[in-house]
Amino acid sequence: NQAPVITIDGPSGAGKGTVSQLVAEKLGWHLLDSGALYRLLALAASHHGIETDDVEALKVLAEHLDIQFQQADDNAIEIVLEGEVVTQAIRTEIIGNQASKLAAIPSVREGLLLRQRAFVQEPGLVADGRDMGTVVFPEASIKVFLTASPEERAQRRLMQLQQKGDEVKLDELVKTIKERDERDANRPVAPLVPAVGALVIDSTDMTIDQVVDVIMVEAAKAS
Ligand code: C5P
Repeated sequence: NQAPVITIDGPSGAGKGTVSQLVAEKLGWHLLDSGALYRLLALAASHHGIETDDVEALKVLAEHLDIQFQQADDNAIEIVLEGEVVTQAIRTEIIGNQASKLAAIPSVREGLLLRQRAFVQEPGLVADGRDMGTVVFPEASIKVFLTASPEERAQRRLMQLQQKGDEVKLDELVKTIKERDERDANRPVAPLVPAVGALVIDSTDMTIDQVVDVIMVEAAKAS
């Protein structure tokens, strides 16, 4: 008798984060940004000087990661790691790449598994990531696989980074996005593939609102 779950998986830059947030808001459901957990682990590992090859220490760290997702005054979600606000600090390319490396380690994924499942609470959960529908919430009522072309995803990422004042080149972003896709799709554990029965949405030529509408229609059908 668990609360219902909608999973939204896909590669980085497909719009999962924004779409998941909007769907969760519209439904009044909880939200799990599972990528943030991998990013938090990467940041914590660097704080504690834990190397990528120390898989035991990484697993223990994953299981005991001291994190909080709290509502800030402006309603935005503030992410706190070991008492420190790291909402922005985990969004860098360096942390993203490190997160993707740690995410390829089976014991790390195992360490985070139960923590992710604990996010299921009434009235429901929208979970975004890479393996939400395939591994973490196989019983989810609605599974979405949201994708877009690498060029489009790089373009969107470029705009985000430029707003933050980061200097990056588009062709370099396309290259790292393709590399990260490769690694996420070909890793032996929880590779990035659409779950069986997933609704595949290619958002290359769609607006965020159009994507949200498609998912809301599915949610209405399922309820
Ligand atoms: O989505 P985001 O870019 O924040 O995720 C960072 C990295 O964490 C991804 O590149 C991916 O390797 C990993 N990840 C994962 N499984 C998830 C969510 C994220 O392996 N469910």
